Formats: sequence, structure tokens, C-alpha cells
Amino acid sequence: MTTVAMSSAAADTAFRHQSSCLHQHHCPSGGLPLKPLPSVQQRCPQGSFHHLLIHQTPSAATAASSSPDRVFNFAAGPATLPENVLLKAQSELYNWNGCGMSGGATTQFAAVPLNLCSPDDVVDYVVTGSWGDKAFKEAAKYCKPKTIWSGKSEKYTKIPTFDALEQTPGAKYLHICANETIHGVEFKDYPKPAGESTLLIADMSSNFCSKPVDVTKFGVIYAGAQKNVGPSGVTIVIIRSDLIGNAQPITPVMLDYKIHADNNSLYNTPPCYGIYMCGLVFEDLIAQGGLSEVEKKNVKKGGILYDAIDGSKGFYRCPVEKSVRSLMNVPFTLAKPELEAEFIKEAAKEKMVQLKGTDRLAA
Ligand SMILES: Cc1ncc(COP(=O)(O)O)c(C=O)c1O
Repeated sequence: MTTVAMSSAAADTAFRHQSSCLHQHHCPSGGLPLKPLPSVQQRCPQGSFHHLLIHQTPSAATAASSSPDRVFNFAAGPATLPENVLLKAQSELYNWNGCGMSGGATTQFAAVPLNLCSPDDVVDYVVTGSWGDKAFKEAAKYCKPKTIWSGKSEKYTKIPTFDALEQTPGAKYLHICANETIHGVEFKDYPKPAGESTLLIADMSSNFCSKPVDVTKFGVIYAGAQKNVGPSGVTIVIIRSDLIGNAQPITPVMLDYKIHADNNSLYNTPPCYGIYMCGLVFEDLIAQGGLSEVEKKNVKKGGILYDAIDGSKGFYRCPVEKSVRSLMNVPFTLAKPELEAEFIKEAAKEKMVQLKGTDRLAA
């Protein structure tokens, strides 16, 4: 099984591997200009507030140097790295070890139920692939999740029709994975929670910023940065403001949304470099014309790839139902499995690496 992952931020490098954000930017002159992204409060059309939290994993990096244009940084938080280390990183950034290099969303699998539920609350999960399944299993430690639909018996090639969903009355939230990275199924629209107060929660790790999204439909959207917006280690959480402040007492401090909101996403030492990279990608997305333009490019790129697969007279096959095929991750097989090794070898000659998919596709 082979997978092509498309980073929407890297419109021109569509066919490189999954975590390919780093290769398109250059660090200016070895310095690391910091523009930390604070917790942003935004008024939504319905009058509710959303908070944008940047979750951080500690790391170190700011600049000081012998060169005249760099400052001496005495901050108590992130410290200065040796200049030779920074220069080496700068030189290797574009193509680390020849593999084009570049987590955190997994922590949200626990943070969401911990912040939104009491241990006895029932919540609904639509399991459309292995990430949705992991989220469901983690939630079982902190509340009472129910899988109301699973695509496992059909090898995760489908998304249910929304009226087929038997939602649990009184469920605290309905959780979906908006794009299943491994199985290549993507929600093209979003289900409406049946209950008045039931929240819609989405893991958007692998299609965040690939298209416009009406955030007012959601209680929480979360996404690891490493697919479309930056290096791993930064996680973005968009939460409706009135949902903040109800975490279970056992919630670790780093998973409590109120701690992050109250501290402008700076409660712990921020991964400055990762946030800086996200800032560059956001600027680039705006320069491309914003997310509606990015979406057009993604539709075009996806079309080229799926047309090639469908037009190959069965030489290549995509198992995913056409109406829900992901514009981010395109899984395909070869009709003759013995040709797979040959395909991988020939692709590598064209500088396309990491195309071999995972055995989890056979789930
Ligand atoms: C859809 C989805 N959810 C969650 C995760 C887990 O993210 P992390 O590795 O940042 O914990 C991934 C990782 O690839 C993913 O693709």
C-alpha cells in the first residue's frame, strides 16, 4: 500500500512526504525572530467567543551572538543556543540528511474529555480510521465514550451518511476525525449533533488550513501542527470560550485549557522555533490568497492524482469511496503487489521517498 500525503501549505511541493513543511522556508541570517502567537480571542458571528490556544512542548532557542546584528538574550525561559549549532541547523534545514525532514495531537485525545466531561458523561465517537479509534480508546479513561459508527469492517474506506448516525441522547459531544491521515477518508461536510447542547469536536490534524472551516460549528477543533502548518511539537486548539474552565480535577496542568488561555499560551517554555515556523506558514497561506485559494489548489492537485489512479485501467487502485476521498492523503495499491517494490525504487529515482504506506491500511 502506498500513500501520497499532500501538504496544503506547500502547494508547489505537493508530492513530497507528509511532514514537509520545513523545506520551503529559510531561516533569516541565523537569527530567530520571535513572534509568539498568543492566545487569541475572537468574536464569532453568533456572539460566542473562541480561543485559539497554541499548545507547546518545551524546547530551547533564541539568539545571541558575536555577530553585530544579533542581540544578547537574557530571558529566563528559552536560552541561547551556541552559534555554531544554529548555523549548522540553518544549513541543514532545507534538506536534513537528504530526507526533506520536518507530536502533540495525541495529547488532545485525553485533553478533550478531561476538559469537557465528568467521568460519567457519555460522548459519541464516529470512528472512520485509526486516528479516530485511538481518540476513542483514550477517551475511555476519562468518560464513557460510545462508538456510534465504525468503518472498520469496510477497512475504513467510508464516511457514514449523517442520518445513519444513531447519536446518544444527552451525549456531551460528538467526536470526528476530519481527515484520516492513514486511510485517506475526509469529511466533506460536518454532522450536526442531535442534542441542543451536544458539542461537535474535530481532530483536524491532517487537513487544518487546507480549506476554509466555519469554526462556529465546533466546540473544539484541534490539530497537530506537523502536517500543514509547522514542525511537530506545536498543537493548535480552537475552543469556544465558554467551554474553558471545567476541567476534571485530575487534569494535568499542561492539558488544562484554562491554564493555557489564562497564560496566553505561555504557561510553560514555548517551542519558539516551532511557533516561528507556524507564523511563516500562516503568512505564506495569506500570501497565496487565503484558505479558499489554497482549497482550489488542493482540489486541482487531488484531481490530477485521483484521475491518474482511476484512469490507469486498474494498474493503480484507490480503495476509498469516491465522494469522501481525502485531498490530503491519497492511499493507493498496485494491482500486482509484486510491482510495489519496483514502484518504490523507481519513485526514489525521481526523488519521491517515503511512499510506502503502512500495514495499518490492511486493518
Ligand atoms: C489525524 C491525526 N490525529 C492525530 C495525530 C497524532 O498527532 P501527534 O503525532 O502530533 O500526537 C495524527 C498524526 O499524524 C494524525 O494524523
